Amino acid sequence: MKKDEENEEFYELSSHVDNLIKKKIDTKRIREVDRSKKTAAFESVLDERTITQLQKILDKGILNDIEGIISAGKEANVYLGYVQNSHEVAIKIYKIDSNTSRWMKNYIIGDPRFKKVPKNIAKIIYLWASKEYKNLKRAQRAGLRVPKPIYVRDNILIMEYIGFGSIPAPKLKDIVNPINKEFLLNDILDFIKNLYQKSKLVHGDLSEFNILYHNQKPFYIDISQAVSIEHPKSEKYLVRDIKNVFRYFEKYNMALPNPEDFYYETIEV
Ligand SMILES: Nc1ncnc2c1ncn2[C@@H]1O[C@H](COP(=O)(O)OP(=O)(O)OP(=O)(O)O)[C@@H](O)[C@H]1O
Ligand SMILES: [Mg+2]
Repeated sequence: MKKDEENEEFYELSSHVDNLIKKKIDTKRIREVDRSKKTAAFESVLDERTITQLQKILDKGILNDIEGIISAGKEANVYLGYVQNSHEVAIKIYKIDSNTSRWMKNYIIGDPRFKKVPKNIAKIIYLWASKEYKNLKRAQRAGLRVPKPIYVRDNILIMEYIGFGSIPAPKLKDIVNPINKEFLLNDILDFIKNLYQKSKLVHGDLSEFNILYHNQKPFYIDISQAVSIEHPKSEKYLVRDIKNVFRYFEKYNMALPNPEDFYYETIEV
């Protein structure tokens, strides 16, 4: 493909994605990535490499369309996309950012699954996306309620979409008074325990912010930072997850088990 055609395609896709982004995104978070280009500057949260990679994924037919943005965050954006037969998927795209890659190392170094930590920022982010994919796979194999991972390439992760039509499931933190709190508590505690005992992982960022409430059931997301139970900080992260969950339920004036007993029950082999 000639350079000009390549550029044209690149800008076509980027403007497509940008238009979607502009619809809903918090504009403060959009940063201009490419003022140096002769072509008119465009605003995007996606860098050139990511857009090229997205184009390849569309060309290969892995994805049919990217429709809109579900969430714009510091580390990643999540988009609604479609695969063949018009099935919705969630596309999580990690931003290539040096600040992000710095703290990510805490969750990579010490995990026996990742012997070498890349020096290159982009490669750390790619490793991070593949880590989320692997963690989702492990959790899914253990029968846990996580989005099914579908595809990962570089900083792009495609997974099962949790929601109805174009409306993504709300986060548990936005549900004012969930009706089935006993079930919810037990399900979340079972998730922590099974993730530890069956998948040999600790979530590491579990809270009402990373649980979606769909069909009155919790779905556990954002599992990229999850570490192997052999990681030197796994117990610290486990305690943090347990504390978050108990803190969430405290406001509901319900009988709670003892968090310390639950911790020991979880780690006992
Ligand atoms: N599989 C999914 N189906 C539907 N919505 C999803 C899915 N995955 C993520 N989301 C939505 O995108 C949001 C951000 O996803 P996630 O928590 O995985 O990313 P994050 O790393 O926390 O991003 P941030 O930088 O915003 O904290 C979620 O809170 C949820 O609303
Ligand atoms: Mg999150």
